[in-house]
Amino acid sequence: MTEQIVIKEVAPRDGLQAQPKHLTLEQRQQLVESLARTGVPELEIGSFVSPKAVPQMAGTGVLAAQLPDMPVAYSVLVPNMKGYDLALAAGMRSFAIAISATEQMNQNNIRKGLEDTFLMAEDILGRAAQDGVDIHVYLAVSFVCPYEGPVAPETVLAQAERLMRCSPARLMIADTIGAAHPKQVGELMSELVSRYGHEGLGCHFHDTRAMAIANVYAAIESGIRQFDSSAGGLGGCPFAPGAKGNVATEDVVLLCESMGFSTGVDMPALLESVALLGDFIGTPQGGRSHYWLTRDSA
Ligand code: COA
Ligand code: ZN
Repeated sequence: MTEQIVIKEVAPRDGLQAQPKHLTLEQRQQLVESLARTGVPELEIGSFVSPKAVPQMAGTGVLAAQLPDMPVAYSVLVPNMKGYDLALAAGMRSFAIAISATEQMNQNNIRKGLEDTFLMAEDILGRAAQDGVDIHVYLAVSFVCPYEGPVAPETVLAQAERLMRCSPARLMIADTIGAAHPKQVGELMSELVSRYGHEGLGCHFHDTRAMAIANVYAAIESGIRQFDSSAGGLGGCPFAPGAKGNVATEDVVLLCESMGFSTGVDMPALLESVALLGDFIGTPQGGRSHYWLTRDSA
């Protein structure tokens, strides 16, 4: 049987949250509908964050109330317990929480210190177990922090150990500013897979230094089968200077399917979503394989 790679499409959240062009709720809705039709198994539709901090994500509750009835697992990002409560009330049952491996990144992203952020994560994971909510914990800046520089693997391994004690549905190792290289990724992910198995682990890469797809490959070689990506390679964090787009979903699909894995993603449908995103943002979007993938329609 063909082995699956599970992709979580994050364009409606990570893709849009740092865009100078703010999409309307109707456009965000159309994007979610379009991406839901691609066959991608997981789709992050937005975040329940302070609209003052990230105005691009205002109104995610409206989207949550009208999700298309499709065979896709919808999720949202929540930065704190208030976001958790809002997302729960909106009917969502799969949340991402982003905590950062360094003090300064936590301060800049969610205005909390490192230890307080871990305590909050433990609180949220405790509540989620009672509420039947799946939590994907993101360990942001797992390789390099824009404020503190390189992050030691020992730091990430110790933090992962602490988080794994709370049994998150998934632990996502995130290269938030796209500064990791494949050798580092391979070593860290192999160690994590040997400790916890691959089922509860995943990776989130940005492409700032053109190494995102190489990092996906290194993680696959380490046994990782769950990845985030963004249609057209859109993305970035408003609080992580230098963060560029996420690895493009079409590049990840192409890589995985070329190597014999199955992703469930229909490429023509995905390219329609990418074109829609380009229309909404006002500039053409597309991953590194865009030219090749669209060569017949040019
Ligand atoms: N959703 C909506 N509003 C929220 C909120 C949430 N999850 N959490 C707090 N707020 C509101 C409060 O109600 C308060 O509103 P008011 O000014 O109208 O009274 C205001 O935000 C400030 O609340 P406070 O608890 O003091 O938060 P803060 O100012 O310390 O900001 C965060 C903390 C986490 C809310 C804010 O930094 C944030 O939303 N960051 C988003 C980070 C992000 O999305 N990063 C990219 C993805 S990793
Ligand atoms: Zn990201």
